[in-house]
Amino acid sequence: MAMKIIHENITMRKTAVVTGATSGIGRDIARLLGKRGYHLLLTGRNEDELSRLCDELGRKNVTAVSADLSDVKECGALYRYARQYNTEVLINNAGFGLHGEFVEANLKAEMKMLDVNVRAVHILMKLFLRDFVKRNKGYILNVASVAGFVPGPFMSGYYATKSYVISMSESVYEELRHRKSRVRICVLCPGPVDTSFNSRAGVTGSFSGISSEEAAEEAVEGLFGGKLLVVPTSKVKLIAVFGRMLPAKIVAAVNYYVQGKKKKI
Ligand SMILES: NC(=O)c1ccc[n+]([C@@H]2O[C@H](COP(=O)([O-])OP(=O)(O)OC[C@H]3O[C@@H](n4cnc5c(N)ncnc54)[C@H](OP(=O)(O)O)[C@@H]3O)[C@@H](O)[C@H]2O)c1
Repeated sequence: MAMKIIHENITMRKTAVVTGATSGIGRDIARLLGKRGYHLLLTGRNEDELSRLCDELGRKNVTAVSADLSDVKECGALYRYARQYNTEVLINNAGFGLHGEFVEANLKAEMKMLDVNVRAVHILMKLFLRDFVKRNKGYILNVASVAGFVPGPFMSGYYATKSYVISMSESVYEELRHRKSRVRICVLCPGPVDTSFNSRAGVTGSFSGISSEEAAEEAVEGLFGGKLLVVPTSKVKLIAVFGRMLPAKIVAAVNYYVQGKKKKI
């Protein structure tokens, strides 16, 4: 698949690029940024949903391109396309999980997950950040997960991808602080959110989650409020704190039980 323009609205209005905008958290973040007056550059692979969103959000407020971010060439194509807009915000949200014991899990599917959750997030963050730093203006939200604070048996690869995103975001935040840059980096770390995440991972969730609207609201508030970490709900904040404090072996043992309760669909 090559990047494809679904709907184009060339404008010099301030623009927010949203990856994974076709569903769940990304779609709700896009809706909120639209309400804040941003022109949206939406992306995902689902062309029908991109078209539908253009209708929903008002075609003069939106541009949509389909792209498969597991392909490094499409990450570059998306960035080059976005350069003609006055991009001030990057929502690095596209991602998915896989469930299963590491020894059994399909290597090809896992590599695709690493490409989307890690490589694409890294590439897009770097390319947009370079422009933002030159202009001393811009916001980047990376969507990680509370999974990034802890080891996760049965989802070991997924948890590790989110750990990468948190670690990179925290480090770059500090670098920007030392540069006295006005560019903001924020990382969203939710617990379970009711989206198609679990069904795409081929499992049913073991806990009910918050809504994607709630996760999106916290993310957008945190991003523009200058927060580094946004961890919605106090219960999930506790998991993040204890996840970092307790010995990894203990946390892994608890998570073996939690993730092991998920049922294949
Ligand atoms: N739901 C949760 O419990 C939860 C908890 C913590 C963190 N998260 C994170 O939140 C983010 C959004 O997930 P969600 O819960 O909103 O799930 P979702 O509803 O399944 O949305 C995932 C989005 O990622 C896009 N995507 C997946 N693979 C892609 C690819 N190869 N190329 C381009 N786009 C791709 C999908 O678009 P297309 O299918 O159109 O390509 C879709 O828009 C993910 O990074 C996820 O890891 C989710």
